[in-house]
Amino acid sequence: MHYDVKNFTLEEKLKLLTGKDSWSTYDAEGKVKSVHVSDGPHGLRKVEDKKTVKATAMPNLAAIANSWSKEAARLDGETIASEYVEKDVDVILAPGVNIKKTPLCGRNFEYFSEDPYLAGELAKEYIDGAQSLGIGTSLKHFCCNNREYERFFQTSEIDERTLREIYLPAFEKALEAKPWTVMCSYNLINGVYASENKYILKDILRDEFGYDGLIVSDWGAVHSEFRRILAGLDLGMPYSKGSYDELKSAYEKGYITEEQIDERVRRVLDLIEKTINDKKTVRFDKEKRHENAVKIAKESIVLLKNEDDILPLKGGKILVEGQLSANPITGGSGSACVETEFVQRPLSELLSEKLGESAKVEYLPSVSIAVENSHNVCWNLRGGYKKAYDSDTVVICVGNNGDIEGESFDRVDIRLSEKQEEFIINTAKYNENVVVVIYAGSAIDTSAWADKVKAIVYAGFLGEAANEAVSSVLVGETIPSGKLSETFPYCLEDTFAGGKTCDGFVDRYSEGVFVGYRYYEKTGTPVAFPFGHGLSYAKFTYSNMKIKKNGETDFEVSYDITNESDFAAKEVSQVYVKDVFAMVSRPEKELKGFSKIEIGAHETKTVTVNLDYRSFAYYNTSLKKWHVENGAFEILVGASSEDIRLTERIDIELPETEQQSV
Ligand code: BGC
Repeated sequence: MHYDVKNFTLEEKLKLLTGKDSWSTYDAEGKVKSVHVSDGPHGLRKVEDKKTVKATAMPNLAAIANSWSKEAARLDGETIASEYVEKDVDVILAPGVNIKKTPLCGRNFEYFSEDPYLAGELAKEYIDGAQSLGIGTSLKHFCCNNREYERFFQTSEIDERTLREIYLPAFEKALEAKPWTVMCSYNLINGVYASENKYILKDILRDEFGYDGLIVSDWGAVHSEFRRILAGLDLGMPYSKGSYDELKSAYEKGYITEEQIDERVRRVLDLIEKTINDKKTVRFDKEKRHENAVKIAKESIVLLKNEDDILPLKGGKILVEGQLSANPITGGSGSACVETEFVQRPLSELLSEKLGESAKVEYLPSVSIAVENSHNVCWNLRGGYKKAYDSDTVVICVGNNGDIEGESFDRVDIRLSEKQEEFIINTAKYNENVVVVIYAGSAIDTSAWADKVKAIVYAGFLGEAANEAVSSVLVGETIPSGKLSETFPYCLEDTFAGGKTCDGFVDRYSEGVFVGYRYYEKTGTPVAFPFGHGLSYAKFTYSNMKIKKNGETDFEVSYDITNESDFAAKEVSQVYVKDVFAMVSRPEKELKGFSKIEIGAHETKTVTVNLDYRSFAYYNTSLKKWHVENGAFEILVGASSEDIRLTERIDIELPETEQQSV
């Protein structure tokens, strides 16, 4: 199927650029198909007759990033797309790859990481997976939308190098999977709205990155119809009569030409054609989708602490505490929220079933997510503490809900509610074997209680799969293999400016390229749980690092990982690059490769990671390009950003003609 722009009247063309309603494109009175789009990242959120259709609630992207598994990200995309095919929706309005500049950002649960390399690699798989079923995606929010506070009006004030090195690369990488659409962000970038920012949309996205799909606005992000056309934004969503009228009047005033309109219409027609020409396939039915959600969730759980190997649970009298354990939150609130009809089984019930005769598992709802002024917070605490005193182990389930993590607002701090902290601390006075399970979408300050408990399991927001996956990890059926895709600082004050960078007019990106672990390492700020951290029930040793030079800036890094345990387990290993002497200030080290592999009991496997030009380069604003300086680089292989196991030095020797005088 191919449509010719010439066959449409001016009125039809203007309507094609402004949409038909909230979720679909104009069909030119039946001349073309109307494309249907829906959120979002964690499953289908289709709105029909003002009601949300029930769908499979997948783990949130922040959790999936903790899996460090490209297979999991791909499977997630395929699983979600299957439901889109079934429910006749053409485009998933996801994934979002905005960088976690601060743990306060309300939408961090929807985003992958504080690290652009990890975010880009996983998003690329998600897109590839989804689109392999003939369903489009929308890579969002382009770009520099790293806070929710005043997101419609605040300008992200950022320098060129930071933009290039931190905030664009995840998009750049994900674009390799050719998402059918890219969604612009709400905010302004250096004083110009993203929706009308020619530098961002045309010069960078189209011309430099070579993106030839459709650029769509975030919902209501267009402020000027003619400016967005001139900047290259193809489709303004959702439909409003005002947008159409404004566009028409801009044409009549001569602000935009028919040729410019045609260019944008061409992209809309391309998208419509793709939805017809790309064969749609359902890969997974409802049962299989749920199974996939559980499979992905199991990969994503992070074991933060496990003193005295208290986990996996050994049986005995186990008390499961906290309302969340009976009814875990599936994810944060807002457009990414999926309504599932799946009813999760209580954690206590699943644990009891899995542990069998060896355990007596009881449940008490003594603590729930306490939101300020909420009444239904705690009851019969004394009963809870007494029961804890009489138990061998207490599993306390705590976390956040959609009132704390969600779209259009930021968190105010990163601690659990006071009631939850208090409950953990008090329970630990009556029982020395406390295991805390956290259901949340972003970093948590655990410092008030972390040293008082034996184990901490960070589940994340795991959609409808939470309890099946958490119980499997707690009993050791699944060996935890997730690692943090975001640093957990000791407290908010330890983050850059305590997260206070916005004043409503401007969000200043003055930490520059020092975001996430790059910041803590540069400033020597100790953190509670570093980027890339995650324990296993297995023990892995690293050895035999080799570096093979394949070209001036192409290197093959290999190393062996041995699983010293009696059971198979998965290990995520990370490859960081350090520029030892640089002419500009650079991070201590940066993630440039990673791998997740399963290794059998007492088996050794070799991991190979390739490094290329970009692994060594920084963005030079004088040269206006990525640049590699000759000299020494260290390649660091680690089990986390702080747990570096192997280091080798290499030297880059590019020809004199490619270097600057020093
Ligand atoms: C969000 C987008 C979402 C869109 C449609 C906006 O408010 O920022 O991420 O895709 O709404 O629901």
